[in-house]
Amino acid sequence: MPDALRSVLLSEDEIRRRVAELAAQISSDYASVDELLLVGVLRGAFIFLADLSRCLTIPRRVDFVALSTYGGETTTPGEVRLLLDLRTEVRGAHVLVVEDIVDSGRTLALLLRLLRARGPASLKSCVLVRKPARLEVDLSIDYLGFDIPDVWAVGYGLDWADRFRTLPYIAVVEPG
Ligand code: PRP
Repeated sequence: MPDALRSVLLSEDEIRRRVAELAAQISSDYASVDELLLVGVLRGAFIFLADLSRCLTIPRRVDFVALSTYGGETTTPGEVRLLLDLRTEVRGAHVLVVEDIVDSGRTLALLLRLLRARGPASLKSCVLVRKPARLEVDLSIDYLGFDIPDVWAVGYGLDWADRFRTLPYIAVVEPG
C-alpha cells in the first residue's frame, strides 16, 4: 500500500462480490425493459461503471456526464457544475445513474433533478459508497454498495487531489 494510505477500508474481493450482487439485483429488476441506459458520473464512477456494466445480464448502453463539486482540491464548496452532458436521448429511456460516492449528496441530487426534467421512462440511482454522516440533502439511493465512515477514502475511482484513483481497493488517506 502507498505510504500516504493508512488502512484498507474495502478490499478488492469485498468490492467485487458486492458489485456482482448489485448487478444481479439490477438485472432482475430490469429484466422486462428493452434496454437500460447507464449514466456514469465522471470522473470517479468510471471504474465502478466498467465493472458493474460488464456483470449485467440485460441489454444496456452506457453514457457519461461530468459534474464537479470539489474544485480540484480537497475541500468541498457547495456548488455543483455540469461540465459534460449526455449524448443519449433521455426521454422515454430507463435511466440508472451510476456514482462512485455520495458525500453531501448535492451532485447526485442535482443530476437526478436535471435528468427527471427530460422525461425518462424511469430514473434510479446506483452508488458504490455513501457517507451517511456527511449527507446534506434528502436523497434516496436505489442500489447502494456500502455505507462508510466519514474518512477520506481513495481508490476504485475515488481520488485525493487526483491521486490513487486506480487502486483496485478502497483505502483511507493518512491525514497531514
Ligand atoms: C465526487 C464524486 C461524486 C461527488 C460526490 O466527484 O465522484 O460525483 O464528488 O460529492 P457530493 O455528494 O458532496 O456532491 P468530484 O467532484 O470529486 O469529481 P471527480 O469524480 O472527477 O473526482
